[in-house]
Amino acid sequence: MTLAVRYTAARTLDTAPAETSAPGPGEVELAPAYVGICGTDLHIFHGDMDARVSAPAVLGHEMSGRVVRVGPGVEGWRPGDAVTVMPLRWDDTCPACRAGHQHICQHLDFIGIDSPGAMQQRWVVPASTLIRLPGSLPLDRAALVEPTAVAVHDVGRAGLRDGEKVVVVGGGPVGILIALVARAAGAEVRVVELSAHRRLLAEELGLTAWNPVDDDVPELVRQWTGDAGADVAFEVSGAAGGVDTAVDVLGVRGRLCLVAIHPRPREVNLHRFFWRELTLVGARLYDRSDFEKAVTLVADGTIPAERLISKVVPLTQAPAAFEALEGGGDVMKILVECTDDAQGAAV
Ligand SMILES: NC(=O)c1ccc[n+]([C@@H]2O[C@H](COP(=O)([O-])OP(=O)(O)OC[C@H]3O[C@@H](n4cnc5c(N)ncnc54)[C@H](O)[C@@H]3O)[C@@H](O)[C@H]2O)c1
Ligand SMILES: [Zn+2]
Repeated sequence: MTLAVRYTAARTLDTAPAETSAPGPGEVELAPAYVGICGTDLHIFHGDMDARVSAPAVLGHEMSGRVVRVGPGVEGWRPGDAVTVMPLRWDDTCPACRAGHQHICQHLDFIGIDSPGAMQQRWVVPASTLIRLPGSLPLDRAALVEPTAVAVHDVGRAGLRDGEKVVVVGGGPVGILIALVARAAGAEVRVVELSAHRRLLAEELGLTAWNPVDDDVPELVRQWTGDAGADVAFEVSGAAGGVDTAVDVLGVRGRLCLVAIHPRPREVNLHRFFWRELTLVGARLYDRSDFEKAVTLVADGTIPAERLISKVVPLTQAPAAFEALEGGGDVMKILVECTDDAQGAAV
């Protein structure tokens, strides 16, 4: 019997036996090894995405694992292959797809949100979603490829150029990954983050981190930029205060790249947009090239994935791990380990 982590109602998760089914034509069956808990999973846990998520729902979209079986007609994959999954299924017919933006298909199936995710011991997905992992990359680190692909996409959407000054508002896993990818692209980066633990980790990674409560962030940005303001701000906090900070720090013709999910409409200082000729750019998910770049960045150590992993818990302890993240504890990324061995260790 295999186990799955399920969202059953707001603030309620359980672990339950899951049905396994043979992979159909064009599908593969995977054995997930590690699955990251993402800020979006926390939004689901809070009940903020109930309109989209039908409970009971198996969560998880940041994963690494191995191929177990391949379905009819699948070529190029064999049992044992190490993979991650780009968890998107699109219809290829809607206006977004026809314009070449399949990743934001108007009928997108985000696997792990709109359909069953990876926090289970067996997972059947379309072979077209698989991304090969280098054999040298440990599977725990490889679970960070998906959020790194988000960061690669966001830096691309912001049109970041070498030498630009960037403020990342929200130093959670996605914000830190954006900061690291932006730095690797030649930007000078500052991170604004509420949690002292997360600020400390950012500093250990060589980033300068500010506290939005105790530091006068707009003033620090003025000093840093010679009164010009930042070129780019990434809003990755999902908080109203974070939006204000991101708008306040931008200089003339600055670009605000919106990454976080805001569950409700926010007030924005539009006068500032007018006055400084700012640009607002939305950034959602990634495409295959972002994913492939992310594999390279994690594999070559540009992204020190091991430093971002605070804790690895067996599947049976995933509900408690959500509570820990919820409490804003001293953690960055928590991975759920799905292998049989990990469950045995927990007993
Ligand atoms: N655009 C996308 O495709 C995409 C992909 C993944 C995640 N997301 C979203 O991005 C956001 C970040 O994801 P995460 O996994 O890093 O989540 P997270 O919740 O771990 O991180 C958010 C961070 O923002 C900090 N914060 C809160 N209010 C703040 C404020 N006023 N100023 C500064 N920092 C503040 C929190 O302390 C926290 O560390 C979430 O909303 C998530 O849903 C979007
Ligand atoms: Zn479409």
